[in-house]
Amino acid sequence: MSEIVISGTGLYTPPNAISNEELVKAFNLYVDNFNDENVAAIEAGLIEPLAHSSSEFIVKASGIKSRYVVSKDGILDPEVMAPLIPERGNDKPSVMIEMAMHAADEALKASGREPEEVDLIICAASNMQRPYPAMAVELQHFIGAKGFAFDMNVACSSATFGMANAAGLLQAGNAKVALVVNPEICSGHLNFRDRDSHFIFGDACTAAVLERSEDAKSAEQWAIKGEKLVTQFSNNIRNNFGFLNRTAPEHQFDRDKLFVQEGRKVFKEVVPLVSDLISSELERQGLTPNRLWLHQANINMNLFIARKVLGRDADITEAPVILDEYANTSSAGSVIAFHKHRRDMKSGEVGVICSFGAGYSAGCITVQKK
Ligand code: COA
Repeated sequence: MSEIVISGTGLYTPPNAISNEELVKAFNLYVDNFNDENVAAIEAGLIEPLAHSSSEFIVKASGIKSRYVVSKDGILDPEVMAPLIPERGNDKPSVMIEMAMHAADEALKASGREPEEVDLIICAASNMQRPYPAMAVELQHFIGAKGFAFDMNVACSSATFGMANAAGLLQAGNAKVALVVNPEICSGHLNFRDRDSHFIFGDACTAAVLERSEDAKSAEQWAIKGEKLVTQFSNNIRNNFGFLNRTAPEHQFDRDKLFVQEGRKVFKEVVPLVSDLISSELERQGLTPNRLWLHQANINMNLFIARKVLGRDADITEAPVILDEYANTSSAGSVIAFHKHRRDMKSGEVGVICSFGAGYSAGCITVQKK
């Protein structure tokens, strides 16, 4: 079987940063307004007053200090509390695909490939801007790629599931040059009025070019030594938004039509699932990792996972952190870590790109620098 390599990666970071302090200020203003407007009902014991959020809590509980978003003003307006992204005409690239075009451009340049050499595109993300035509087909059109393209959604694990699928299609001879993009506009499905989760997500897009080792020509290549994917049903992370919502109009705008989670349960259940996945995969391959590019949701979770996998505490270079700056960018997170924190690695060194999230789902791609 042909060896598959990652021959280039790219990252698009939206221009608008929001610090915890800015986000908490807007949230607390919303809380004060809500409590003022509902003072009678609160005093009568009919509803609970809302509580303030705090930057100290956010940093301690998650490690997140800031995030980037596609659109900032609406999120920080206590009357809106959502990004405001105008609709575009069907002749223009959609917002997701515009992000993907930037990330793809960087990844293709790194791999030494022209867009027209791409003959497989997978758009793998937690949310698609529309059901059809597939986002990936739109990207194929706007960059002038050939072959075929499709979308897939495995929530935060979309990137690793996408890469594993691309590798399989390349190995089977269905394509020569694959582009996997992960445009994540997480701010679009985040409830900025929910104290438990308003700080969690940010927006970003990653891209990776995969091809057979014998075809690749980039200076830097990462051989895929193995892929392992796992899913296990859980209701602890849900988003019930969907095309049937309007058929039950009384629940159309309920809380569960945006992201909801039981964060503490997720933490407890996903840490063993992921550490076992990575450890058993490395054992099967007989490899020792030099680096863990983990999904970027929670710093404490990543420290636990790294400790279980390595059998000791990891230092910051062994399990790089980008969530302090980017927050949780869903499927893009582990690929951002891989994109930004690998240049110092030597030929022969091994790393694991590992994503995990809703489903539950977890994906683990072991790579070795050529
Ligand atoms: N500001 C201040 N206090 C807050 C707060 C906020 N924004 N949000 C919650 N709190 C309070 C809670 O009310 C609770 O108070 P209590 O102890 O008086 O009841 C306390 O802080 C702890 O809340 P809890 O939700 O248990 O916090 P946590 O330590 O579990 O951290 C998460 C919350 C979400 C950061 C954490 O559970 C997490 O990241 N889990 C993993 C999630 C994950 O990986 N999801 C995948 C998504 S793709």
